[in-house]
Amino acid sequence: MTREDIERVLEELSALKCKTRKEVEEARVRFLGKKGEVTALFEEFRTIDKELKKEFGKTLNELKQKAQATIDSLRDSISDDAGAEGPAVDLSMPGESLDLGSRHPVSIVREEIVQIFRKFGFDVAEGPEIEDDYHVFEALNFPPNHPARDMQDTFFVSSGHPNPLLLRTHTSSVQVRTMEKEDVPIRVICPGRVFRNEAISARAHCIFHQVEGLYIDKNVSFADLKQIILLFAREMFGPQTQIRMRPSYFPFTEPSAEVDVSCNICHGKGCNVCKGTGWLEILGCGMVDPNVLKASGIDPDKYSGYAFGMGLERIAMLKWRVNDLRHYFENDMKFLSEFKTSTEV
Ligand code: PHE
Repeated sequence: MTREDIERVLEELSALKCKTRKEVEEARVRFLGKKGEVTALFEEFRTIDKELKKEFGKTLNELKQKAQATIDSLRDSISDDAGAEGPAVDLSMPGESLDLGSRHPVSIVREEIVQIFRKFGFDVAEGPEIEDDYHVFEALNFPPNHPARDMQDTFFVSSGHPNPLLLRTHTSSVQVRTMEKEDVPIRVICPGRVFRNEAISARAHCIFHQVEGLYIDKNVSFADLKQIILLFAREMFGPQTQIRMRPSYFPFTEPSAEVDVSCNICHGKGCNVCKGTGWLEILGCGMVDPNVLKASGIDPDKYSGYAFGMGLERIAMLKWRVNDLRHYFENDMKFLSEFKTSTEV
C-alpha cells in the first residue's frame, strides 16, 4: 500500500458525479461494497507490517468516512423523480394540504351586491379614485360652502386650483361620469373605494367601500326607488326583510331618504345589534335633483331618476356581526381566514 493508492481513490471520489439513484448505488458498491476500492485497501491494510499500519491507519479511516459522506451527499442531491427505482416518496401517505387564500369579506359582500343588481338589469361602472372637485362636488349640486368640501372631510391632492384634485369621498362621481358619457336610459351601480379624512375608530375609517346606484329614464318615480330597495334588501338579508324610509338630506337628491331594514337578528323585536329599535340603517337614497341632471346635459323635464348609495363595510358588519371597522383593513390572517367558507364558490 502506498500513499498514492489512497490519493488516487480520494481523487476518484472528488470527481464522482451521479445523475440517478442507480448511479449512486453503483458508486457505493464501487468504493464501499464487498469488493470496493476502499474495502480492498482495508483488506491490504490487514497484511502490512506494524510500522506501515501506524502510518496508514488514520488516513485510511478518513478515506472511508470521506467515501461515505460523498455517497450520502450525492444521494441527497438527487431529486425523487430521478430515481431509477421509482419515486422515493410514499404515494399512499395523506397529502399536505395547501394553505389556500380566501376572498376578503368586503369583496364577498361587493360581489353579492353586484350579482343582485345585475339581476335587476344594472351595469357596473367604475371611475378614478383621484377625482376633481367638479365630479365629486360641483356637478352633484354641492353649494360652494357645503361642509363636505371642507378640508376636514376631504383629502386634497392639489389645492389653489379652481378645480382641485382630491380623493373621491363617494362613488357618486362615477355616476356623474356615466351621465356625461352614456345616453339615457342609464342603469348602473358604481362599486369602489372612497376616502374621507376621519379619525380611525371602531365605527369610522379614512378608507372604505361603497356601492352607489343610478337609474335615469322617463317617468322614474319614488315608487320605483322604494321597490328596488325592497327587492335588494330581501335578496341580501332574507325574504322576510322589511324596509322603512326616513326623510334625509343630500345635495344631489330631492327628496332624499335614509333606509333602514328590519333587524335580521331579532326580526324586529329589538336586540343589542339594532340597539333595541328593531331597525338597522343601510343606505341613503333619493330622486336625482334636477340640477344634477342639467349639469350633465340631461333634460330634467323629460327624464327623472333615482340614486342610492351604501357602505360595504356597514353591510359586512351586519352580515357577519363584526362591529369593529378596523378589522376589515388590518389584513390579520386569522380574521381573514374566517371567511373561507362564505358565499364564494
Ligand atoms: N353619496 C352618498 C354618500 O356618500 C350616498 C348617496 C348616494 C345618497 C346616492 C343618496 C343618493 O353618503
